Amino acid sequence: MINSTKPIDDATPLDDTSGLKLPKDKVYTLKDIYEKEAQNIANATIKYLSAPPSKKEAPFSYKWMMDLHKEMLGEIWEWAGKLRQIELSIGIKAYLVPVELKKLCDDIAYWDKNRTYDVFETAARIHHKAVQIHPFQNGNGRWSRMLANIYLRQNGEMPVKWQEDSLAKENPKRLEYIEALKEADKGSFEALIALHRKTY
Ligand SMILES: Nc1ncnc2c1ncn2[C@@H]1O[C@H](COP(=O)(O)OP(=O)(O)OP(=O)(O)O)[C@@H](O)[C@H]1O
Ligand SMILES: [Mg+2]
Repeated sequence: MINSTKPIDDATPLDDTSGLKLPKDKVYTLKDIYEKEAQNIANATIKYLSAPPSKKEAPFSYKWMMDLHKEMLGEIWEWAGKLRQIELSIGIKAYLVPVELKKLCDDIAYWDKNRTYDVFETAARIHHKAVQIHPFQNGNGRWSRMLANIYLRQNGEMPVKWQEDSLAKENPKRLEYIEALKEADKGSFEALIALHRKTY
């Protein structure tokens, strides 16, 4: 199991540059890449979170969910918006991703139509399932948090400020977040819902 809560040394040169769309004659540190990714993601944030997106703009369909990942990281990575073909320590088996992602879309449509849960619980469940499936090679956390935020914004609530910078390092917020995801894995969503309600 990868321990992603361990601190990342920002100055560490990036070793896996396969799929990197930036000029190859330069050496990039993790910090360089993280900043470029953040700039790319900022465009998606503006597009979807500055005003409540309509159902047409954010339909939570299979294609749209895939495209969203590309909108977030497609300027930096070739694999953005493409399903992973490799196994990771987090996430389901790669061959199960398409069917599980489709199931999630169907669930979202059902929850939305039937008001199965309140807005915060729906956002938490979308977030949890999306990151549990882990469809992409990387960026699954940021993409899942964006999905939840888009759902909140579309349904009259403000997005959660996840403080993406500090989420990447060892800090109490990150640990609390990961713990909440693990609780959700076991079927209790309260802690994760609380993070979406922002009552902390
Ligand atoms: N035990 C765990 N440790 C770390 N992350 C976990 C764990 N379980 C689930 N996750 C989720 O996986 C995400 C990390 O996956 P990935 O590296 O693909 O996403 P990312 O957007 O690059 O990461 P980050 O959230 O660190 O910016 C975390 O943000 C979290 O949502
Ligand atoms: Mg990552």
